[in-house]
Amino acid sequence: MSFAGLETTNYFEGLTHAVLDQSKAQIEKRKDFISMCADKVVDLGEVDKDSIRMTRGKTWTTQGLTRKDVMANAAIFISAGYETTASTLQFFFYLMAIYPDIQDKLYSSILEVADENGECSYEDLKKLEYLDWCIDESMRMLPIAIRYTLL
Ligand code: HEM
Repeated sequence: MSFAGLETTNYFEGLTHAVLDQSKAQIEKRKDFISMCADKVVDLGEVDKDSIRMTRGKTWTTQGLTRKDVMANAAIFISAGYETTASTLQFFFYLMAIYPDIQDKLYSSILEVADENGECSYEDLKKLEYLDWCIDESMRMLPIAIRYTLL
């Protein structure tokens, strides 16, 4: 499988193997995406022959995920999640810069929730309603992607 240059693809392949091996060796199972995938990883040589399918020249099985399947999904997560998040944050900070009154209001609303060190816990994040509105509005004003499957 290749989704970027050879060096990047090799690095990513090695990383996927390492993370899956590490996750399989863990005694205490976590419920994250990679751990759940690791539990379902199978080898095409070991599955029932009638579970094997071929789609556009690629072989897969209905009995689990191959390591290549996991790697392909991880690559989708990286490519779908990286630039989208980076550009959204850029637009958000740009809008905060050109609307300083909104920035001040947002800053005050965060201070109301943050502790004495200015930090918010994961639970606190849910209370930052005005931040939610600002992010939603910045994505409405300057959307970085559209839902083309609905068009
Ligand atoms: C602000 C950030 C993001 C925006 C604006 C955004 C936007 C979108 C949009 C509009 C779609 C639908 C495309 C379609 O019509 O099929 C989509 C799909 C998807 N996004 Fe994001 N995304 C963001 C962040 C992320 C992140 C962080 C991840 C993963 C870690 C991710 C993973 C995916 C995946 C896997 C799909 C395909 C889902 C499917 O199969 O239907 N996205 N995203």
